[in-house]
Amino acid sequence: MNAQIDHALEEIRRFRPSPEFAAQAVADEGLYDAARADRLEFWADQARTLLQWEKPFTRTLDWSNPPFAKWFDDGELNVAVNCLDRHVEAGLGDRVAIHWEGEPGDSRDITYAELTDEVKRAANTLADLGVGEQDRVAIYLPMIPEAVVAMLACARIGAIHSVVFGGFSADSLASRIDDAEASVVITADGGYRKGRVFPLKPVVDEALGKAEGGTVRNVLVVRRGENEVDWNADRDLWWHETVATASNEHEAKGFEAEHPLFILYTSGTTGKPKGILHTSGGYLTQAAFTHKNVFDLHPERDVYWCTADVGWITGHSYVVYGPLANGATQVLYEGTPDTPHPGRWWEIVEKYGVTILYTAPTAIRSFMKLGRQIPHEFNLRTLRLLGSVGEPINPEAWIWYRHVIGGGSIPVVDTWWQTETGAIMISALPGVTDLKPGSAQVPVPGISIDILDDDGTAVEGEGGGLLVATEPWPSMLRGIWGDPERFKETYWEKFGDKYFAGDGARRDEDGDIWLLGRVDDVMNVSGHRLSTAEIESSLVAHPWTAEAAVVGASDETTGQAVVAFVILKASQVSHVTDPFEASEELRKHVATQIGAIARPRQVFIVNELPKTRSGKIMRRLLRDLAEGREVGDTTTLADTSIMEVISAQVR
Ligand code: PRX
Repeated sequence: MNAQIDHALEEIRRFRPSPEFAAQAVADEGLYDAARADRLEFWADQARTLLQWEKPFTRTLDWSNPPFAKWFDDGELNVAVNCLDRHVEAGLGDRVAIHWEGEPGDSRDITYAELTDEVKRAANTLADLGVGEQDRVAIYLPMIPEAVVAMLACARIGAIHSVVFGGFSADSLASRIDDAEASVVITADGGYRKGRVFPLKPVVDEALGKAEGGTVRNVLVVRRGENEVDWNADRDLWWHETVATASNEHEAKGFEAEHPLFILYTSGTTGKPKGILHTSGGYLTQAAFTHKNVFDLHPERDVYWCTADVGWITGHSYVVYGPLANGATQVLYEGTPDTPHPGRWWEIVEKYGVTILYTAPTAIRSFMKLGRQIPHEFNLRTLRLLGSVGEPINPEAWIWYRHVIGGGSIPVVDTWWQTETGAIMISALPGVTDLKPGSAQVPVPGISIDILDDDGTAVEGEGGGLLVATEPWPSMLRGIWGDPERFKETYWEKFGDKYFAGDGARRDEDGDIWLLGRVDDVMNVSGHRLSTAEIESSLVAHPWTAEAAVVGASDETTGQAVVAFVILKASQVSHVTDPFEASEELRKHVATQIGAIARPRQVFIVNELPKTRSGKIMRRLLRDLAEGREVGDTTTLADTSIMEVISAQVR
């Protein structure tokens, strides 16, 4: 266990909800009571009250063929209508849905009526391009309103979107396009990041050159960066020449609750990312329920801001589907937190009067490093609730967040969930739960969580174990795109009908849950999941590399950082004279192959890797080195002296 977590376990501070907050809170104890009394009826009730159904469902859960769950499966709904039209019909058309802020400082306010119109136009455009129900559309966009429009337009016509984070490389995009057999890609010429335009359309062009499937018929391009782009007149279309001129009349039909909504790729323990599949009714129910209750949403007065990119699950559930289903007003920001100045986020909070802020520990820790004087230059007094997601939040960061950003008395909720879970699973409910810095605390009402040992026995008391969901939940993944076997193996083989999350956890004496990090070869860098195997295969694909091992080493800002150990090919060693240069080249190579988020913090050139007699690399020992610790027990190594050699080389 790392020092940060040890420290967290000694944390004893508790914060009671203030009576003023509790008095106005959306959530109450009654939610837990109702869920305990009848879990399925509880979810059915949420689905009926939070959503509009074209055809009401009569069945709540079908778990007759585990692990393939069906929720509300004889009901029909349209996800886009739930996020848009029904609010307009309820007289909320003039409510701002999105306060959009571009990085250079341009901005747009978009009402629910305007967003509905734009989604209808985009839906008509996609239909004109031949996109039908269940067809896949890849979305590769910056954080601009068109990203939200594109996703909802797919949902409206029953197409399946696959959003690929704009920071991923052409190779990563190509493999995702191929895996999903996408027929259309929606992109932009470029977007703003760190004060510059980063090109996207050229990456799509390159990806389509690499994609082997040849499935893409059209590329729809939003003009944003105004950078020069190549144009293939047979394939490429401008958004402003098609969507903008399309009809804003579009009749949406209801789809079955289990109609697929999206695929989102995430890193697993092998080199190949998994296409996590989510469907409609159950997903939207839990996204809306948690968004409302965990964030204490009062849609008529709150201004909500989730800083995640729509390329990640947090952006799907808590920028697009949850908030819009609930009729919230939210901020959408295109750029980086420190452009053009380090107070940019706080300036945005002040400008729009943000009341609810949802972000990641890595961002909070970066702000801590810069010091409190930067946020103190802005008026942050509108904030009344703070959320955290993506990795364990250390108590120091939690307290700083509450005090410096939140003024000292507002709730901070730490929310545990995953791409696979679709929505929040573990979190305090503000106004109800006593808060504990560093702990994600309790399952949300209607969710059943346990901690098991390796044999599947429930861990009693305060020992650590493996986190599982013991009952199916509405927003659970329905599979891995095109690979039902991998779905079963990865999540269900270990404990039968219990979902194995891949995280370690423990309960304290109050029964609160503390997350202890991944138990598999998945790293968490700045709240993003990266696979050691994927980075290793990228390194090995470089002509200089003979062998590579990657570990996630603790990092005070990013949580974990990628550290690689590489053996060069004998034939290359004589050409590669400068190890620093070799390591820079390999870092760059990974960034080009996978994306900048995967760029290793360090690449060490070594002659050997520590292996067991059966040839398995002992990453634990490499992690000791990378974290600057005394190297642990080496007795199971084939050659016990090897760590001394490697240590000397690393130094
Ligand atoms: O290890 C857990 C960590 O992030 C993983 C899920 O990553 P991803 O699918 O990319 O989704 C991130 C955003 C939901 C989990 O397996 N994780 C996420 N939230 C927390 C967390 N670890 C501790 N505390 C959290 N609040």
